[in-house]
Amino acid sequence: MSGAARRRKVVVLDFGAQYAQLICRRVREAGVYAELWPHDAPGARWEGSDVAAIILSGGPESVYAEGAPRVDTAAFVGRPVLGICYGMQLLAHLLGGRVVPGAVGEYGRARLTVEEPLDLFHGLPPSMDVWMSHGDHVVEPPPGFRVLARSEAGVIAAVGDPERRWYGVQFHPEVTHTPGGTALIRNFLFRVAGLRAEWTPASFIDEAVERIRQQVGEGRAIAALSGGVDSMVAAALVHRAIGERLTAVFVDHGLLREGEAEEVRRLVGGTLGMPLKVVDARQRFLDELRGVVDPEEKRRRIGRTFIELFEAATTELGGAEFLVQGTLYPDVVESGRGAADVIKTHHNVGGLPERMRLRLVEPLRELFKDEVRAVGRQLGLPEAAVMRQPFPGPGLAVRIVGEVTAERLRVLRAADAIVRAEVERAGLARGLWQYFAVLTGAHTVGVKGDRRAYGETVAVRAVTSEDAMTADWAELPHEVLKRIADRITAEVPGCTRVVYDITSKPPGTIEWE
Ligand code: XMP
Repeated sequence: MSGAARRRKVVVLDFGAQYAQLICRRVREAGVYAELWPHDAPGARWEGSDVAAIILSGGPESVYAEGAPRVDTAAFVGRPVLGICYGMQLLAHLLGGRVVPGAVGEYGRARLTVEEPLDLFHGLPPSMDVWMSHGDHVVEPPPGFRVLARSEAGVIAAVGDPERRWYGVQFHPEVTHTPGGTALIRNFLFRVAGLRAEWTPASFIDEAVERIRQQVGEGRAIAALSGGVDSMVAAALVHRAIGERLTAVFVDHGLLREGEAEEVRRLVGGTLGMPLKVVDARQRFLDELRGVVDPEEKRRRIGRTFIELFEAATTELGGAEFLVQGTLYPDVVESGRGAADVIKTHHNVGGLPERMRLRLVEPLRELFKDEVRAVGRQLGLPEAAVMRQPFPGPGLAVRIVGEVTAERLRVLRAADAIVRAEVERAGLARGLWQYFAVLTGAHTVGVKGDRRAYGETVAVRAVTSEDAMTADWAELPHEVLKRIADRITAEVPGCTRVVYDITSKPPGTIEWE
């Protein structure tokens, strides 16, 4: 058996918690591989699996609610289990303890007193702040369980059965508001479950390469490169696994930022040495977008044209059976209904796999963005490539309000290059999710060199975000904004005004279209 196969993982069962993915992330940060499974994962999935320990997530339901998510405890036998919030209540409920509906709900910070640390609270202080968010709570632990901690309100905050290694906590150790939470999770992983911290980007690569080889066999694969980090890292991994049987296809739609198309060519064809087919379709996309102002119509045309060109390129290459996609964890909606190989139409090249009868290879579908970056670095991608900002599939077209023309693309690219350069020069890039320029479509009067000027209004957009589901506009220092505005108005012909977008998401979106 290879080292990779021996390694064992943690499964987080999802009971609908807002924080379920975060639990996985904390486990992986501790160096143990974790996956999120639906709470009703079929028995077959457990049989012969390498699952070493189970964490039950929280969830919005009461164990008494009709249709409340359940779990088959058969999978727990012989495995350490940690139930969090709803997970603890369910554990108690199913194993013969007593849960009462929430007369004394606790929401927010609570102080907890440890009565019996066992392994779970090893090294933690006897009194600690934790983050609570529950209505129901356990009033009687199941047979074999002991009360390990209570909150100030007297609510049972942790229970444990050291024999079976089953534990439950009413609070959320995965959130940063529980300062001892990371230590508690590590205690569960290392002291209770006896796992070792051996999950690293390098070990991920070894395992992923092995899985890709098994999936693709002697087949051939193609990868559509968008210029972004996800598709690049996915392609690099598959290239490592199957070498020349992968060809990367880069459709240059002319909607990338300044210098990016050249970078993709240099990096993929040069540094990474991957077979690369470049389709120069800049004029074709401009033709398709002529006169189009409706954002959805732009997206549709870009998507359709992309698919046509990609299909043609693949045919020219002699076809393939597999399509590599850089789908990430947050893109995967684990519904539990045969999720493993479901094709995600929301993704960049949605529609393509069904039409071309391609099977998907998605080596990054268990990872978060920062983990993808770590893997990219380990694969030897340069820092500039792995740290690239997220960028929408339809490119600059959704940052140009109104018609996309060669001239307007030129103005936007030049303005965007200034925004990027100034934010990066000020050392602010790492704290931001995205920072870019938008052509607002508003034309305003200005004065340049004593003459009346009438030109484009550029909006600067900079946001902070965890996952792009929500975002806050970034409070960039005024001097940085001033430099950006001065430079854009001075250096970009056709631009007379610069504004700063102070809309958060929601209600706004990050992109303008
Ligand atoms: P919004 O504008 O919806 O964007 O707040 C959220 C994040 O997704 C990116 N984005 C896209 N990414 N294809 C993509 O791959 C798209 O069509 C697309 N539209 C938006 C956006 O840049 C932001 O990071």
